[in-house]
Amino acid sequence: MPIPTARLRATATPTAPALTLRPWTPGDAAGLAALGRDDALRRWTSLADDETSAARWLREQQQGWEQDRRYAFAVEEVQPSGAPGPPAGHVVLKDVAPGAASAAVGYWTAAHARGRGVASRALHTLTDWAFTTFAPTGLTRLELLHQTDNTASCRVADKARYTLTDIRPPQPPDHPSEGHVHVRHLA
Ligand SMILES: CC(C)(COP(=O)(O)OP(=O)(O)OC[C@H]1O[C@@H](n2cnc3c(N)ncnc32)[C@H](O)[C@@H]1OP(=O)(O)O)[C@@H](O)C(=O)NCCC(=O)NCCS
Repeated sequence: MPIPTARLRATATPTAPALTLRPWTPGDAAGLAALGRDDALRRWTSLADDETSAARWLREQQQGWEQDRRYAFAVEEVQPSGAPGPPAGHVVLKDVAPGAASAAVGYWTAAHARGRGVASRALHTLTDWAFTTFAPTGLTRLELLHQTDNTASCRVADKARYTLTDIRPPQPPDHPSEGHVHVRHLA
């Protein structure tokens, strides 16, 4: 699919600003590397924390769009001026195969933006976009996997109405720990 230029949007809450979602660009490398220098992101993700690795990661996201298998978005909080702020998080629709009924989602939030519903609202928006875009070609199920002891991620899944359906045993090297599988079906 052509990389979209229009932003997706999540509404504001009484205590947190609206969000916009847009594809990552090569210009995000320095900011992304800075966000990656965070203990929680090091523990739970493989996000780069140097600019060279961040640039490589950004190229992979671009290729994901071009190859129709992975659709990654930078999440930005809308500033009081109405302009989008710097990246505050990431959501991704991944493991997409043409015509397949199932795909997966993932997310993280920058340390400075946690606790404001960024991940759960962005995941809602991504989920709506995914079903709207891909249901006509057969998508009916989205899956989310997190390590059992990642309780904040479990809460994000619940808030975005992904139901806990299964416990997945460790599968080293990619999944060294037990995981929770959450699923959301096309309504
Ligand atoms: C998990 C993560 C994405 C949450 O991002 P966020 O934008 O702060 O999420 P939200 O604000 O939408 O919701 C977080 C929820 O988890 C709760 N939470 C936060 N830390 C928690 C903890 N240690 N234990 C239990 N719940 C926790 C919050 O209270 C909130 O729930 P509430 O709204 O009912 O109060 C973020 O902490 C993160 O990026 N962590 C590192 C990367 C990661 O784990 N990614 C997911 C991999 S599967």
